Amino acid sequence: MEAGFSPNAGMPAPTGSQDLIGTVSAISTSLMGEVSKVIIGKNENLRRVTVGILSNGNMLLEDFPGLAKTLLANTFARALGCKFKRVQFTPDLLPSDIMGTYMYDQKSGEFKLRAGPLFSNILLADEINRAPPKTQAALLEAMEEKQVTIEGITHKLPAPFVVLATQNPIEQEGTYPLLRLKWTDF
Ligand SMILES: Nc1ncnc2c1ncn2[C@@H]1O[C@H](COP(=O)(O)OP(=O)(O)OP(=O)(O)O)[C@@H](O)[C@H]1O
Ligand SMILES: [Mg+2]
Repeated sequence: MEAGFSPNAGMPAPTGSQDLIGTVSAISTSLMGEVSKVIIGKNENLRRVTVGILSNGNMLLEDFPGLAKTLLANTFARALGCKFKRVQFTPDLLPSDIMGTYMYDQKSGEFKLRAGPLFSNILLADEINRAPPKTQAALLEAMEEKQVTIEGITHKLPAPFVVLATQNPIEQEGTYPLLRLKWTDF
């Protein structure tokens, strides 16, 4: 993948809705073209994720293991020059593991935020249904409010903040029911 992808390259600034539609369409085509240099096939997933990212939606990717879900999320982030983080959800994952915590800094004598992986542009939340509802809820709250509150202090998340989540359709043992309602179906 070439790093030089620029969504607005060579496009005039939009003046009306026709121009805007044309611009969005050109950006989508250009983005999908860039990602499909790395991902073979999977056109439907590419289309869904493109629409999702451009409309700031959060997506549940349901596919079998080893079919390039991680690669796809990572490739989209690289094509867009976005900050990418991946979290493997596990039964012992705590809300603070994804949000971050305040740590005491001996040098300055102050508590400083060690930001968790929610502070990213594209977050791949792998096997989300392996985490207990409390941690799933912290993720859903971040998705909805685009901010997190840690120790009573509210922090805005970077923009855009888009979550791609997976669940494994084969291995359902040791999972919690998924809090489903917040996922947009593109
Ligand atoms: N459609 C594809 N195009 C390009 N590479 C692919 C494709 N499918 C699988 N691969 C290859 O398979 C490897 C594994 O893919 P990846 O780790 O992204 O899958 P995954 O869906 O995240 O798997 P898991 O469910 O185990 O997390 C990739 O690094 C890539 O080399
Ligand atoms: Mg993976």
